Amino acid sequence: MNREDLLKQAKEILAKNDHGTWTQPAMDMYANQWLWDSCFVAIGLAHYKPTRAIRELRSIFAGQWQNGMVPHQIFHGEHSYRNGARVWRSEVSPLSPPTVATSGITQPPVLAEAVWRIGKQLTPLQRDRLYKEFYPKLLAYHRWLYTERNPRREGLVVLVHPWETGMDDTPPWIEELRYHHTPLWIELVDKLQVEKIIDFTRQDAQMGGVHERISTLDALRLYDIVRRLRRKKYVTNQILRHSMFCIEDLFFNCILIRNNQILEEIAQSIRRRVPTDLRVQFAKAAVALEDLWHEEDAQYYSRNFNTGEPLRDSTLATFLPLYSRSIDKMRAAELVKRLQKKREYWLPYPVPSVPKNSKYFGDHHYWSGPTWLNTNWLIMDGLRAYGYNELAQEVCEKSIDMVTTSGFREYFSPLDGRGAGATNFSWTAALIIDMLSDKKKRRRRSAQK
Ligand code: GLC
Repeated sequence: MNREDLLKQAKEILAKNDHGTWTQPAMDMYANQWLWDSCFVAIGLAHYKPTRAIRELRSIFAGQWQNGMVPHQIFHGEHSYRNGARVWRSEVSPLSPPTVATSGITQPPVLAEAVWRIGKQLTPLQRDRLYKEFYPKLLAYHRWLYTERNPRREGLVVLVHPWETGMDDTPPWIEELRYHHTPLWIELVDKLQVEKIIDFTRQDAQMGGVHERISTLDALRLYDIVRRLRRKKYVTNQILRHSMFCIEDLFFNCILIRNNQILEEIAQSIRRRVPTDLRVQFAKAAVALEDLWHEEDAQYYSRNFNTGEPLRDSTLATFLPLYSRSIDKMRAAELVKRLQKKREYWLPYPVPSVPKNSKYFGDHHYWSGPTWLNTNWLIMDGLRAYGYNELAQEVCEKSIDMVTTSGFREYFSPLDGRGAGATNFSWTAALIIDMLSDKKKRRRRSAQK
């Protein structure tokens, strides 16, 4: 398939998954709207339908809570009501929006990035209008993160559920989950071995089989945590007071730090200033990131919020400080060296979610091995920020090859590029559009030189 056809197919998928104001991640699996999925979709749409991209963002903010929180899921319509809204019951919090059912946690904050990228496709006047519309909402969201989720005011925000990382079964979280969260009833399920029966009812496992997804026992643990969060009405200090299970997540914080910078740019462009108290937190965050560096292992890790212990399972999160743009060049070079290690991350189709030499690695095992388009996109952006353009281009080419051969799947084997999970996946389509458009622009720029 040539690149023109690939682009055409990507646009067709986004059109098929389009509900008018919001885009479904995949018709065969995820019934609702998801925060970071919609941001990536908007980044793709911005290239050819900026008005529709803006509508996508408006629909996310329709779910924003009064305290500024932007939920990771918004439930639309009857079908999804049955599947998700009853579990979360956002109405238990007086701060949730009165007419929209949502979850009670958030997801990686790529919202400012999405607004900014749409802005780049507009005329100065339209851009001004866009930024003025979204700046207060973005500001409220970042403020929520740096107040409610930053209890010690040390700069790194705390997450309370692995779904907030967007990488549901990423090894460091799963390790912590098993250690800190096995209530009696889950022990019983384990002892009575009834999980095989539950396996049959799992919608997420139907596409690729249970072995590709999070184990049933772990999934039950995750649902149990939702119950606990709900009991605390999603109030963070209540949750933190009673839980050992909260993490200063490397991946999330790096994304937030970059999006803080973008928020400041947006503010500047409309002649406003992010309030000083918040800017102090932004600056602290960029410095605190360095505390997550582990000298002996020469990489960055997430950290248990209560014990301060680093969670020493390597994942692709270790490369996200590149995207954050707040590390020095020497550290960046160390990360790039690790990225190119053939026994770890530099596989035929990089960048795997965990390295090949990890005990967790499975080439089709969800966030524990496969390569995903959105994480490649973030790593590519980080590589370019530090001048590693050729390496970024290689990751880009491999990503495009994978999709050309295997279709617009949810994730891919880093060993041979075979696709798995949902089909016609929205963010895969959207980011292919972005990668192809970006390639065209780069080619044009170098021809002009
Ligand atoms: C899975 C992914 C998450 C994504 C969601 C919808 O839960 O782990 O990152 O947002 O699916 O695609």
